[in-house]
Amino acid sequence: MTSITIKPLSPALGAEISNVDLHAPISPATLAEIKQAWDAHLVLRFRGQMLSDQNLLDMSRLFGELDPPGPNPYGKPFLEDFPEINVISNVKVGGAPIGNLGDGEAVWHCDMTYVESPPRAALLHALEIPPSGGDTFWSNMYLAYETLPDEMKAKIAGRRAIHDATYNSAGMMRKGMNPVTDPRQAPGAHQPLVISHPDTGRAALYLGRRRNSYILGMALAESEALLDALWAHATQPQFSFRQEWRLHDLILWDNRCTLHRRDSFDPETRRVMHRTQIKGLALTAFAG
Ligand code: OGA
Ligand code: MN
Repeated sequence: MTSITIKPLSPALGAEISNVDLHAPISPATLAEIKQAWDAHLVLRFRGQMLSDQNLLDMSRLFGELDPPGPNPYGKPFLEDFPEINVISNVKVGGAPIGNLGDGEAVWHCDMTYVESPPRAALLHALEIPPSGGDTFWSNMYLAYETLPDEMKAKIAGRRAIHDATYNSAGMMRKGMNPVTDPRQAPGAHQPLVISHPDTGRAALYLGRRRNSYILGMALAESEALLDALWAHATQPQFSFRQEWRLHDLILWDNRCTLHRRDSFDPETRRVMHRTQIKGLALTAFAG
């Protein structure tokens, strides 16, 4: 009976899992170890896993029911044969993008929190990576909450914010949306600012994305100032982990207690990632 090897990747979050083959059937005992490591480290990296699209789907399902990709700007799945798989790429074929997010920076965000029940997790598999740039960062929102000054905790207790649905993390407008001139009118779910994590019961700061966010019931200027302070706090380097991609890295992240962002990279180079996500439940406020 062998067990997995777990190596932390930063003091804040992230762990590398080795001694497991994600192509082969995974025993219930090994899966339980992986899930325990995931609860503890929030982001798991598996290296050198040459997964086919079918392998990616099969192993993703170990973590729950697949959640189809949100609508992309082009209105049809990127992979005709695998509509549950999203493509993150800057590559164009015949002028048409084969995936989302281009080659620019993707700002700090949490995935699809503008819907009532956002995905609980996402998996990203690196199929082509640029020689430099395009690193991805994750930040630990349990730590961000725990280290907030008491007066900020008091200001956000019981509050909800609008999570804008208009723009994706690369700044592109989603299909069917209109520009937002007043964040108080932004379309998107109203989420608690502090959630109780459904699996661990721990409190996590839940910010979604900064653009067009608004704390309900506050004067706009007060909401803007408080959000700026919360974002500055939550995205400090000591809460984060930097992923420098290697070919066939697979990263699994918890989308309820982390934020992520991506660096830009040279548009003349290619980056291709295949991605799945796992259905989640509506989140509830942390009761304190
Ligand atoms: C995502 C995402 C960042 C990246 O897949 O949700 O934000 O590094 N990707 O491609
Ligand atoms: Mn994302």
